[in-house]
Amino acid sequence: MREIITIKNLNYAYPDGVEALKDVNISIRKGEKVVIIGPNGAGKTTLLLNLNGVLEKEGGNIEIYGENIESLDRKDIIEHLGIVFQDPEDQLFMPTVFDDVAFGPTNLGLDEGEVKKRVRKALASVGLSDYEDRPPQNLSYGEKKKASLAAALSLEPDVLVLDEPTAELDPKSRSELIGKIWELNEEEGITTVIATHDINAVPEIADRVYVLNRKIVAEGTPREIFTNGKLLKENNLDVPEIFKLFEVLNCFGLDSKELPLSMDQAIDELTKTMQTENGHIHLHIHEHTHEDIEKLKDKYEHHQTS
Ligand SMILES: Nc1ncnc2c1ncn2[C@@H]1O[C@H](COP(=O)(O)OP(=O)(O)OP(=O)(O)O)[C@@H](O)[C@H]1O
Ligand SMILES: [Mg+2]
Repeated sequence: MREIITIKNLNYAYPDGVEALKDVNISIRKGEKVVIIGPNGAGKTTLLLNLNGVLEKEGGNIEIYGENIESLDRKDIIEHLGIVFQDPEDQLFMPTVFDDVAFGPTNLGLDEGEVKKRVRKALASVGLSDYEDRPPQNLSYGEKKKASLAAALSLEPDVLVLDEPTAELDPKSRSELIGKIWELNEEEGITTVIATHDINAVPEIADRVYVLNRKIVAEGTPREIFTNGKLLKENNLDVPEIFKLFEVLNCFGLDSKELPLSMDQAIDELTKTMQTENGHIHLHIHEHTHEDIEKLKDKYEHHQTS
């Protein structure tokens, strides 16, 4: 598949000397869902800001559709790449929500009718249709996150770059957003690049995961990453809760060979087990159950809460 974004040997240091990125290599192909995970201060935000030219790289190369980012002007970049910042305050600066969402398409030189159409569509898709005339600074944090997403969607980009999109969203808004990302990717072919701490969401929003910790320390499918205990520990990362639950069930004799990472995978796994076990799932306490559970608690540094 065609490469949309290629990052080669990227370095970035902030003016005060903090070396945020060291020799980062990434390639993103058209139609992929890529997630970047890593501890606080790992450089995820810095990497995404380098991608759309907000920050200027210090060494290495960034190409969009094979063109060096330095040879592209701002309009070329925003036409391909819509970014939603981690902090919505950095994104919203116009007097009304409408103006903020209209800002990108207006800058692309689209006519007024097309701009209006795009703004309405983008606001509807994040559930903010009634917010057009509201001043962005008065919105709640979650509403600001949604308005920022609408501002990127109105550009109708090939690549949507999202920095912590689910942070601060209520549970319903969070699952709607995950569904939206899935739909944009599957149905509209939009490539998504997402930095997140929302580990439970990763299996649903990622075909491929990069682990960043100043440099790229690993790359693989969600399963490859979440089954690499050493990697996770070294980089302050966790696994999805459902994966842990099935590890617990295995201590009680479930014998799940491929631990599920999402609810859908859990349903498949249980259905398969039932089919091979004549419609039953057998759980029991065996000789090693308690010992295995203690090992699990240790592995996840689980703190007793009851
Ligand atoms: N404007 C800045 N000036 C100086 N240093 C900065 C600036 N912004 C970020 N840094 C530093 O660069 C490093 C990477 O920060 P960055 O925000 O990219 O991390 P992150 O992976 O996005 O973290 P988080 O998970 O907390 O969002 C950190 O050590 C941070 O303190
Ligand atoms: Mg960040």
